[in-house]
Amino acid sequence: MRLTAVLAALVLSHHPPEGATDRHCEANARKIVHRFYPLRHCQRSNRTVIGFINVQSVRECADYARDKQGLAFNFAPVKRNNTNWYDVVREREQNQSTVSSWKPAPPRVASFGFEDFYNCHVLDCPEYRNLSTIVNDTRFDYYTLYARLLPASNATCIPSIGMFLFDDTKLNYSNAYNVCVSAGGSLAHIASDARTFQLSKYIASLPEMNYTTNNSTDTTSAIEPLYYVGLNETVKNRFFTSADERLDCFRFRAWAPGHPAYV
Ligand SMILES: *[C@@H]1O[C@H](CO)[C@@H](O)[C@H](O)[C@H]1NC(C)=O
Ligand SMILES: *[C@@H]1O[C@H](CO)[C@@H](O)[C@H](O)[C@H]1NC(C)=O
Ligand SMILES: *[C@@H]1O[C@H](CO)[C@@H](O)[C@H](O)[C@H]1NC(C)=O
Ligand SMILES: *[C@@H]1O[C@H](CO)[C@@H](O)[C@H](O)[C@H]1NC(C)=O
Ligand SMILES: *[C@@H]1O[C@H](CO)[C@@H](O)[C@H](O)[C@H]1NC(C)=O
Ligand SMILES: *[C@@H]1O[C@H](CO)[C@@H](O)[C@H](O)[C@H]1NC(C)=O
Ligand SMILES: *[C@@H]1O[C@H](CO)[C@@H](O)[C@H](O)[C@H]1NC(C)=O
Ligand SMILES: *[C@@H]1O[C@H](CO)[C@@H](O)[C@H](O)[C@H]1NC(C)=O
Ligand SMILES: *[C@@H]1O[C@H](CO)[C@@H](O)[C@H](O)[C@H]1NC(C)=O
Ligand SMILES: *[C@@H]1O[C@H](CO)[C@@H](O)[C@H](O)[C@H]1NC(C)=O
Ligand SMILES: *[C@@H]1O[C@H](CO)[C@@H](O)[C@H](O)[C@H]1NC(C)=O
Repeated sequence: MRLTAVLAALVLSHHPPEGATDRHCEANARKIVHRFYPLRHCQRSNRTVIGFINVQSVRECADYARDKQGLAFNFAPVKRNNTNWYDVVREREQNQSTVSSWKPAPPRVASFGFEDFYNCHVLDCPEYRNLSTIVNDTRFDYYTLYARLLPASNATCIPSIGMFLFDDTKLNYSNAYNVCVSAGGSLAHIASDARTFQLSKYIASLPEMNYTTNNSTDTTSAIEPLYYVGLNETVKNRFFTSADERLDCFRFRAWAPGHPAYV
């Protein structure tokens, strides 16, 4: 028996090729610009902020997010009233209940967050399908790389790298490729040190699977797990990443001489 695992990245978030050596590579680098989509109006995400800045336009905020390897961002348009109306309403309600019960007004605690000082917050992970960390805030809009297809709740975010789904069904490469595409993604892009390191860590963190059959007499059954990654040998001896970039445009090398090889 052979147990095969497939690793899929829903959307890629990667650096431009480091070793851009020829025109092909430059074209690769230009082709891929990750787009952020507005997903929520008058709301912001409360996920981990990895950078904040004050900018004039949403475009500047998106550029900053790409620069910081963010997967989403909150942006407060400069022209919008810089009062969070949800706070005002809440305060009003509190005032009313305080007055009606004849209690002295509670001392106002000024608790400022960076949302009060910066209008562009870059997030290392997007909201998942249930939007569990979205916060009502009329000052902000929320933008994400993952709007057209919200990641499934069983997807895992690897901060600043991307969203991943691990599938442990036994498949051949073509089927694995198609499963990932129909899930709205692609086989995992691994052509960088950070991606390889983080994905290896992620796989190692998965619950232990039974890679060997319970039959010590059958040695052929004890085969190491096989994981598919996003490299296609589209042209003989020339590999392409799942974003259709030439692998030889990447300086990253984490394989033995003569590899990668098609299996
Ligand atoms: C937002 O996050 C902060 C810190 O992580 C937490 O204290 C706060 O309760 C969160 N707010 C909401 C509305 O989830
Ligand atoms: C924002 O709202 C406050 C409260 O109603 C108001 O006083 C202020 O003038 C508004 N500012 C702008 C720029 O509209
Ligand atoms: C709530 O009460 C405080 C003091 O009693 C006042 O300063 C504040 O403006 C009130 N807020 C609203 C929204 O009415
Ligand atoms: C945001 O506000 C709406 C009403 O405008 C409310 O139904 C919803 O529960 C609020 N969400 C959060 C996360 O506070
Ligand atoms: C929303 O999703 C997160 C993680 O995907 C999960 O921890 C949380 O329990 C979910 N919340 C609801 C209300 O389903
Ligand atoms: C993730 O969950 C969806 C349904 O929410 C399911 O169809 C899919 O098979 C799951 N994928 C994995 C890899 O568990
Ligand atoms: C992959 O498996 C499917 C059936 O599971 C089969 O039809 C297809 O020919 C296989 N592809 C390759 C390249 O082996
Ligand atoms: C990559 O491989 C898959 C599966 O064999 C195939 O369907 C797809 O067309 C290939 N992509 C390219 C760009 O050749
Ligand atoms: C691995 O095998 C053991 C016994 O053979 C079984 O109890 C366990 O549930 C299996 N684990 C998985 C993840 O399939
Ligand atoms: C392996 O199989 C034997 C019987 O065939 C059984 O007694 C034993 O519990 C199995 N071990 C595991 C780990 O499943
Ligand atoms: C163990 O392997 C032997 C030889 O390959 C085979 O005859 C036997 O049926 C296997 N037993 C199990 C439980 O898979």
